[in-house]
Amino acid sequence: MSDPWKESFDHAVAVARKAGVVIRDALQNEVKVMTKSSSVDLVTQTDQRVEKIIISSVKEKFPTHSFIGEESVAAGLPCILTDDPTWIIDPVDGTTNFVHGFPFVAVSIGFAVNKELEFGVVYSCIEDKMYTGRKGKGAFCDGEKLEVSDVKEIRKSMIISELGSNRDEETVSKIFSTMKKILCIPVHGLRGSGTAATNMCLVASGAVEAFFEIGIHCWDVAAGAVIVTEAGGVLLDVDGGPWDLMSRRMMSANNKTIADRLIKEIDVFPAERDDVV
Ligand code: IPD
Repeated sequence: MSDPWKESFDHAVAVARKAGVVIRDALQNEVKVMTKSSSVDLVTQTDQRVEKIIISSVKEKFPTHSFIGEESVAAGLPCILTDDPTWIIDPVDGTTNFVHGFPFVAVSIGFAVNKELEFGVVYSCIEDKMYTGRKGKGAFCDGEKLEVSDVKEIRKSMIISELGSNRDEETVSKIFSTMKKILCIPVHGLRGSGTAATNMCLVASGAVEAFFEIGIHCWDVAAGAVIVTEAGGVLLDVDGGPWDLMSRRMMSANNKTIADRLIKEIDVFPAERDDVV
């Protein structure tokens, strides 16, 4: 079969859109906030509900497939990528945004087979933008082909990073010192949408040259990874080595020149891998 994952991809797009409608509707009601690893690591009933909707709909259609979902892992399920066709799901990427009504929230669905990402779907549901990428078949937003920017000079770049949810003082200092060094290169600007998935789509669209973060999880970036690479971008570890989905570290950029220049300024701090058992 020449296109074995087309049916899964089509289903991912449909279920991401359906999930986005649930999220948009939930924004009209009072949001009940709970916490996970710390007082700033937020979760809502919508995150849990949307993950259940996605997983049950996929299970019904593809009963042999496996799942790694943010809220299932938070509830104690393992976060191990096997060779099985695996759906890697963040039902609400940008939960803090969702809680505050800050208008960038995405449904992120990555799909891997034999530990290789085959497609990614990011539905930026408040903007109503559907981003997709399929291995070897390009990246698109609402049907329009995406291409990363061709900027090679760091001084002409706009960069995204995030502050994350780690409030350990030493970590926060390293995040700020990295941002200060990058800002003072100088770059044109430093931004953050509050959702890693959307940030990666902004790299793929050419709106920014790079997005990097230490502390993200595989479900935040699995879908965006396919979209960035299919738009012509690069993925690296924050030390310049090969990118690893489970490492919780990511540099995504329009090209290696920009990525390497930023990597020189990153003060790396530890983040426990996603697949630690
Ligand atoms: C978070 C967002 C945020 C990033 C955090 C992620 P969540 O995902 O992607 O931009 O800075 O590291 O955990 O918790 O909203 O799904």
